[in-house]
Amino acid sequence: MHPQFLASLCCPETRAPLELKADESLSNGVVVTGELRTAGGRRYPIVAGVPRFVAEEAYAASFGEEWTRWPRVQFESANRGRPMQGHTTRMWEICTGRSGNDVKGRVVAEFGCGSGRFLDVVRSRGGRAIGIELTRAADVARRNLSNDSDVLILQADILKPPLRDASLDGVYSIGVLHHTPDPGRALAKMASAVRERGWVACCVYPRGGFYDYASVTRFRRIHTALEKHFGYYPALGYSFLSAYVLAPLLYRCRHLPGLDRIIRRLERNIIPLLDIPDPRWRLLDIFDAITPAIATTHTNDEVRRWMADVGCEALQTTTWCATSLFGTKAAVR
Ligand SMILES: C[S@@+](CC[C@H](N)C(=O)[O-])C[C@H]1O[C@@H](n2cnc3c(N)ncnc32)[C@H](O)[C@@H]1O
Repeated sequence: MHPQFLASLCCPETRAPLELKADESLSNGVVVTGELRTAGGRRYPIVAGVPRFVAEEAYAASFGEEWTRWPRVQFESANRGRPMQGHTTRMWEICTGRSGNDVKGRVVAEFGCGSGRFLDVVRSRGGRAIGIELTRAADVARRNLSNDSDVLILQADILKPPLRDASLDGVYSIGVLHHTPDPGRALAKMASAVRERGWVACCVYPRGGFYDYASVTRFRRIHTALEKHFGYYPALGYSFLSAYVLAPLLYRCRHLPGLDRIIRRLERNIIPLLDIPDPRWRLLDIFDAITPAIATTHTNDEVRRWMADVGCEALQTTTWCATSLFGTKAAVR
């Protein structure tokens, strides 16, 4: 972590300010080893450049596995000249409602950053980026963003974020809150960290979509039952089969008479399949769909209420999906 971010941090337990003790730093000022501590004696180690506020991955462990296996598949730099080029940037722009130089020189945080593909977009636009991640994916993100002094990765819980109130210009969370036990509370924590008239954006799984299909929810239950004995091998086996054999075969036959309807029934009810043109993305996304311990789905009204309840106004539903919204943190009168 670079000391410039200290002003945005606090103790997640007591909300007290933190002091930085650096043991080892890089030439650009990034502290690689050291400690953050409160005057009251709470201590949080900085290991491999990442301040650590949690000791375990808890319910999100499958994501530690996911991002360690496929650390850069969804980064723009790994998609040049390939079918998914531009997807990550487009998704970030649509879900946050930001474009051009909107984040230049601003401090922006991502709640649940995974391997850091969206932080990479923020950096490409000159923003200063903070990523919060519960799992060992925090180390993946740190490596992906290669000791950039304008990036801070925190291994922390978004339900107890080590961020000072009203310290950020903007905050977003894409594909994350539905993996926590309390998405509404997570959104409230996001909004607290943003200054008045800063922006808040959130995208969660929509009710009735792919993540609610009977095929997907059944495979999730099967994975949960098998994981205790076989780890991630069964889920990995199915994800490879789906991405590299079933999807190409079935989607190629789609135009044959009567088959489109049968394939749609299959993907809804029997076998999780994704019609994405890059097999690496299909593999990652099928694994991502069938392994999380928590995966809830939501409605537009629900997300709207969460955001309104925490003082966000000028709410807009984006074109990404019905449960992708952004808004502005209201000024206190
Ligand atoms: C589906 S991934 C999305 C990652 C990233 N937003 C992206 O789209 O590339 C969800 C991420 O949220 C993280 N996550 C889930 N619950 C969390 C929590 N309570 N605190 C911090 N991170 C959490 C997971 O570990 C995982 O990396």
